[in-house]
Parts: sequence; C-alpha cells; structure tokens
Amino acid sequence: MIPVITIDGPSASGKGSVAERVALHLGFHYLDSGALYRLTALAARQAGVSLEQETVLQGVAQNLDVHFEAGNTWLGGHDVTTLMRSESCARDASMVAALPAVRRELLARQRAFRQSPGLVADGRDMGSVVFPDACLKVFLTAKPEIRAQRRYNQLIEKGMSASIDNLLQDIRARDARDAMRGASPLVQGEAHLLDTSDQTIDQAVRQILTWYRDCPGVRGT
Ligand code: DC
Repeated sequence: MIPVITIDGPSASGKGSVAERVALHLGFHYLDSGALYRLTALAARQAGVSLEQETVLQGVAQNLDVHFEAGNTWLGGHDVTTLMRSESCARDASMVAALPAVRRELLARQRAFRQSPGLVADGRDMGSVVFPDACLKVFLTAKPEIRAQRRYNQLIEKGMSASIDNLLQDIRARDARDAMRGASPLVQGEAHLLDTSDQTIDQAVRQILTWYRDCPGVRGT
C-alpha cells in the first residue's frame, strides 16, 4: 500500500508550505487539492459559467485541462500560477467547493496522485474523504488573526495589494463556509491537532516527521 500523509486545515493555516516540505523531505509526491477547486472556479469564470450552476460546474471540473510543473500551474495552456492565488479566486473556490457534484468529480483526479513512493496531500477532506486509509492524518491550524497576517505577508511579497482587516473578514467567512457546508465539511475528526500559531514552518514539519516515523511499519525515514 502506498503511504499517504494527509494535512487538512483552514485557509492560510500554512498547510501548503508545511506539506510541500514534508513531501520534499520524504521524497514523496505532493497534492495541493485546493488548487483543483481554485482551477475549477477559474475555468468557470473564464467560460462565463455562474458559480451556482452545479451540473455545468461538474462538467467544468471533469474537463479541466491542467498541467502542474516545477511550481507553476497551467490551465488550458495558460500560466495561471499567480492568478489562481488571488483572494477573489479563493472566494470563488470556496463556493464551488460547497457543491457535492464538483467534489465527486474531483475525487478520482485527487486519488490518482497516490503514487510510489508516497504522497503528502493537503486540503480540507484529505483524511476524512479522499484518503480515509492514510497512515498519518494531521489537522493543521492557527488563530485567524495569525493566518490573516501570514496571508497579508504572502500577498505583499508577491507584489499584490492587501488589507489585513479584509483578509481577516474573508478568512472568517471562508472558515464558516468550509466548516458548515453539508458536503465534506472541514473537521478535525481523528487527525492529530497541530496549532502553528506560535510555531515556525520548520517546527511544524519536524513534528509531522516525528509522528510519521512513529506510524506502524515506518522505519528510518
Ligand atoms: O486551500 P485553498 O485555500 O487553496 O482552498 C481553496 C478552497 O477550496 C477553500 O475554500 C476550500 C476548498 N477546498 C475544499 O473544499 N476541499 C479541499 N480538499 C481543498 C480545498
């Protein structure tokens, strides 16, 4: 069985950076499942599809022409690496992600990332729905104010404009939508809780690697 580590958590909790580093350390593949929801929303916007048309959006998800390479993402042959990280795309993604038909459609695409020697997958329902048999499940979070500050720093670093107050409001609204929705809501479930409010990325990575090494059947990684 190919091992999977799932890292779920709310927006801007830092799970992407942590998951990527854990994957790099172990030589595992990495799945950023949120990217698939962002890309579905982006493709829908580009095609002029409203974000409430569930069946049409399911078709958009099914036909996503996506290519990931060396940290960049192409949608239909266009580099959308920066565009898909905008706050408006994040908002759209959280609406699209609430639709059960879209989630069902993206399931097989996500599971196809499980390849040897292993996978680190981050998102909201990686441990609860997509990879329920994962050998290690982590729920990574931080206080909303800290997440807003981190997202602000990221956007400013990328040369984008941002307001902390707006980001905090957005984060709270998205937390509520992700946790309250009927389809695969964000829940901690049986995952190990990792609150990174007072932790660096390196500390979080070390903690996850320690948990992983304690998993049954894992030796000397
Ligand atoms: O992790 P992110 O901010 O890139 O995710 C974008 C949106 O997609 C977010 O609102 C939650 C949603 N999402 C989800 O519902 N399930 C996942 N496995 C990953 C992301």
